[in-house]
Amino acid sequence: MKRRRFDDFEGFPRGWFIVAFSDELPVGGTLQLRYFGRELVAYRGEDGVARILDGHCPHLGAALGAGGRVVGTSIVCPFHRWRFEGDGRCVEIPYCDEIPKKAALGTWPVIERNGLVHVWYHPDGAAPDFEVPTLPNHGSDEWLPWRHSKISIRTHSKEIVENVVDIAHFEPVHGTHVARFVNEFDGHKAIQHNAGIAYPRGGGKDRFELEATYYGPGFQITDMRGFLHSLLVNAHTMVGDGTLDLRFGVAIRPSGDRSRDEAFANAYIENLTTGFLEDVQIWENKAYRQPPLLCKADGPIMKLRKWYSQFYEPAPAPSE
Ligand code: FES
Ligand SMILES: [Fe+2]
Repeated sequence: MKRRRFDDFEGFPRGWFIVAFSDELPVGGTLQLRYFGRELVAYRGEDGVARILDGHCPHLGAALGAGGRVVGTSIVCPFHRWRFEGDGRCVEIPYCDEIPKKAALGTWPVIERNGLVHVWYHPDGAAPDFEVPTLPNHGSDEWLPWRHSKISIRTHSKEIVENVVDIAHFEPVHGTHVARFVNEFDGHKAIQHNAGIAYPRGGGKDRFELEATYYGPGFQITDMRGFLHSLLVNAHTMVGDGTLDLRFGVAIRPSGDRSRDEAFANAYIENLTTGFLEDVQIWENKAYRQPPLLCKADGPIMKLRKWYSQFYEPAPAPSE
């Protein structure tokens, strides 16, 4: 019998995945990306629009992200300077007046929103079937820009997603006392309401209340009220060699005291990194139990796995 794709969550789920914070891709900039077992190139045209194309040139295979140059809204291959438009078509070969009909790169759906560059992945190349949220007032004076970081982890993103329901790991792994913990599943969203007391490793204690929402399998946005009000983003995008890139960022409300805000944001990112590294120690060494042996005080792990499996199934047909 053919194995269903989601029996063990091997491969990559469909969804929106964050591949950069907007400030990593300036106008005229390029990024060489390796995700979903593919080579990709991201570039920002002189019109300010971020685009993502297949990364290997159809000519002789050079990587456009490794030395490609942005011209207008197009990108030029570093090897023989074939030029490709944002829709993937080759529009110029400087030493030939005839462009082969098939000279084109595959294109990837991109949404840049909230200071984040998202790419849509679907194993069969189908179109997006859910949206990227718009964070209220992000990009306005109400929030400072994302302060962000990235680590590479040897695990599958199903392990990271499972944290959203795993109430029992907070105390032993993070030393966090959880007083209230509720999960909700709503279509492509998986939400955690959590309140308690965190004991940052650097000392002190922080009463917090948060709402953390996964928008599909690739990224989570957290509205956190603790010592300050902040937004957190946690995004994991699979490379395809058994590793993933975990990106995280924090945006805080400005207090009016810039140096205090900066110091706080720096300390915050350091704390987040420490927190993630505590999880990484578990993730990189654990086995995936399917089914796991659960007790009645565990969080809704099987519900979470069912929710996650929807991104391995074909998207439902649009209603008639
Ligand atoms: S490999 Fe890209 S132009 Fe030749
Ligand atoms: Fe955790």
